[in-house]
Amino acid sequence: MKALILAGGRGSRLRPLTHTTAKQLIPVANKPIICFVLEQVSKAGIKDIGIIVSPETGGSIKEALGDGSRWGAALSYIHQETPGGLAHAVKTARHFLGDSYFLMFLGDNLIQGGVGSLVGDFHAGGGRSIIQLKKVKDPRQFGVAVLGPGQEVLKLVEKPKEPPSDLALVGIYLFSPAVHDAIDRIKPSWRGELEITDAIQEMVESGCRVEARVLEGWWLDTGKKDDILEANRVVLDEYAARQVDGQVDAFSEVAGRVNIASGVVITNSIIRGPAVIGENAVVKDSFIGPYTAIGKGTVLERVGVEHSVVLENCRLSDVERVEDSLIGCNTRVGRSGAKRRACRLFVGDDSDITL
Ligand code: DAU
Repeated sequence: MKALILAGGRGSRLRPLTHTTAKQLIPVANKPIICFVLEQVSKAGIKDIGIIVSPETGGSIKEALGDGSRWGAALSYIHQETPGGLAHAVKTARHFLGDSYFLMFLGDNLIQGGVGSLVGDFHAGGGRSIIQLKKVKDPRQFGVAVLGPGQEVLKLVEKPKEPPSDLALVGIYLFSPAVHDAIDRIKPSWRGELEITDAIQEMVESGCRVEARVLEGWWLDTGKKDDILEANRVVLDEYAARQVDGQVDAFSEVAGRVNIASGVVITNSIIRGPAVIGENAVVKDSFIGPYTAIGKGTVLERVGVEHSVVLENCRLSDVERVEDSLIGCNTRVGRSGAKRRACRLFVGDDSDITL
């Protein structure tokens, strides 16, 4: 069995961050989301993994993931010249997939509990295709499924204006090689993409049984700024553990599940977990509240920050309250006058802001 992780695409909804970073490399709790995906795939026992990459971000993804030995896996990078859709990505990976059964996992999605039981069900069902679903309030931005009485898929529609159910397609699919013939038969959709939903619909119509599993736990789709903050919150809630490797002076207070990496220096500050502070960061006369991730080498001076993700090598000073913010690498946020007010920020890499 193989796995195909999709890390191509344009990431247009996360601009400006994705002008310089692949969206799958944006860190959640200081770890790129795609690394969580690789952990889950490897834990499910799949070690032969293809990664779909785009010409723009393929290099940085390769650099970040290497050959996969960190996860006990072998990674093959597959270049998709244009983001022609999820089914187009499968077509592009045809030589890698051969006639294998495979798990397809969107590189910016994550589910609670991993994919072990889903893969187990797939083997138990003799390799009959399975899709993962989740009940959501507003399914219009997803693929949506209609199921029959035996949890079998009857119908799938991509981003419908009037959803026929509240069951959204999570970006995790288990396929038999029959999917390739179905992909060969479909045409590009209204948005010009070869949709995997259309290919699955085609399989259903040609008499292939496709099963569904409805997820009870959380599902994170980190497509937009607020999704990243939510993913950061959920992942810190679930995985943050207290570990203090850096220096904390006697005037500081560290409460709860806070991970302070080596080389960090904290002086006269309060840190309340769950939170994570990356290597060599400096925190001075500041407050870091729950659900915050501070990237490597970032410097905070006289700053209050909560429920935010601040990436690497930023410098924030004299800002009383930063909340619900996602701040790209190398950003500077400063203050010109003495008047202080709360800020809401969504700024790209290398920005320079004076308030
Ligand atoms: O997030 C779940 C949704 O993902 C499903 O409910 C939808 O049925 C499915 O079509 C997909 O919708 P999105 O429009 O959100 O997909 P997006 O364009 O964000 O691409 C998902 C991932 O696949 C992302 O990591 C980029 C990658 N990708 C995307 C395209 C279009 C590729 O690697 N190649 C591509 O050609």
